[in-house]
Amino acid sequence: MRQLIRGRVLDFHADPRDSEDNHRFWEDGAILIEDGRILAVGDHADLAREGLAEIDHRPHLILPGFIDPHIHFPQLQVIASWGAQLLDWLNTYTFPAEAQFADPDHAARMAGLFLDQLTAHGTTTAVAFCSSHKASAEALFTAAHARDMAMVAGKVMMDRNAIPAVHDTPQSSYDDSAALIAAWHSKGRQRYAITPRFAITSSPEQMEMAGALIRENPGLHLQTHLSENRDEIDFTLSLYPEARDYLDIYDRYGLLGPRTLLGHSIHLETREIDRIAETDSRPVFCPTSNLFLGSGLFDAEGLRGRGITSGIATDVGGGTSWSMLTTLAEGYKILQLQGQKMHPLTAFHWATRGNALTLGLEAEIGTLAPGSAADLVVLDPRATPAMALRAERAETLAEELFILQIMGDDRAVTQTYVAGRPCKQLRASAGISPPS
Ligand code: GUN
Ligand code: FE
Repeated sequence: MRQLIRGRVLDFHADPRDSEDNHRFWEDGAILIEDGRILAVGDHADLAREGLAEIDHRPHLILPGFIDPHIHFPQLQVIASWGAQLLDWLNTYTFPAEAQFADPDHAARMAGLFLDQLTAHGTTTAVAFCSSHKASAEALFTAAHARDMAMVAGKVMMDRNAIPAVHDTPQSSYDDSAALIAAWHSKGRQRYAITPRFAITSSPEQMEMAGALIRENPGLHLQTHLSENRDEIDFTLSLYPEARDYLDIYDRYGLLGPRTLLGHSIHLETREIDRIAETDSRPVFCPTSNLFLGSGLFDAEGLRGRGITSGIATDVGGGTSWSMLTTLAEGYKILQLQGQKMHPLTAFHWATRGNALTLGLEAEIGTLAPGSAADLVVLDPRATPAMALRAERAETLAEELFILQIMGDDRAVTQTYVAGRPCKQLRASAGISPPS
């Protein structure tokens, strides 16, 4: 069925990313969709037809859905865990919570809740770390496929330095990853990401397996973590004494390239930055996580100045919010602490088109171009009384966007469309109830 979605429509160009001249805006705009795809975008007057079904979201803004390029599926119940920095936080809270995902029933229940949370916050695609258990990835892909929601995900490979309940082995991690790739990669909108958690939790034998998987499956994404925390870096270098630096460990196993996502990438040596640029690998900035875990300040401007393409992501549950709006707000503050600036139009470009470009998926998501998926977010810059009060003095689109960026959260998301279907809801059947 053809349908018109009407509102104040904002779409971004591929380039330039870092200027205000990066977008198109239709004050009375519309998006024509059919079978989950966008057929046309433009002025409502040009697209309206007698008898065509129409949903009117005016005066709200319609943008491509948010993309979250680094999030941990099995950490929904880890978010807001008190008092630790990275390594203690992993050992104390995270590994025990991830151990539960060996149970397919638990994983299936959590997968539905995970996708509900994403869409409640306006996120239509995520790049997700699952737990080390094959069942966790099965559960996430099954749930996302049923909703026709584009996911990039992989089971984490981790064979040491955690707890036995979340350890795999080099061979089992290879076998499970290969089986998941065969079952899920390119099935509908699902994509597999090879996922060695980080160098601390992978033996050299397992790194070899990750390298074999990427050689055997060229074009797949690979996600991991890099240089998030000083103690992490020291421990990592002690485990791989032959490596020149942290990045060199991944490099030696052939894991770098334009489809490689390097979560955090905060404390980098000059040589590492050179090598990230040379291999066109993709750092991912995780502002709320970096502040919450006390990890450090991501040098967005420095990396951009080197021609490096980076993403911006929540990193739930090290991150403290599911909202890409809140993520942009905290990112803005981290840049401020370094004398850097993030213009609201640059910020919203980053969370949509920019992240799609970072993933190399710009033809499918993060855009309203005809032929792309009808994944949309509808935003209300006057969602709360405090926002509405501030918006009384807003005169430009950029000001409205900045109010959303700094004050917005899921309350500002009035609707989310995944493949053309409205889906902003928290299903009562999922079993969420207040504590008694
Ligand atoms: N490094 C390795 N695993 C993790 C994780 O789950 N979260 C964060 N923030 N960093 C990591
Ligand atoms: Fe992470």
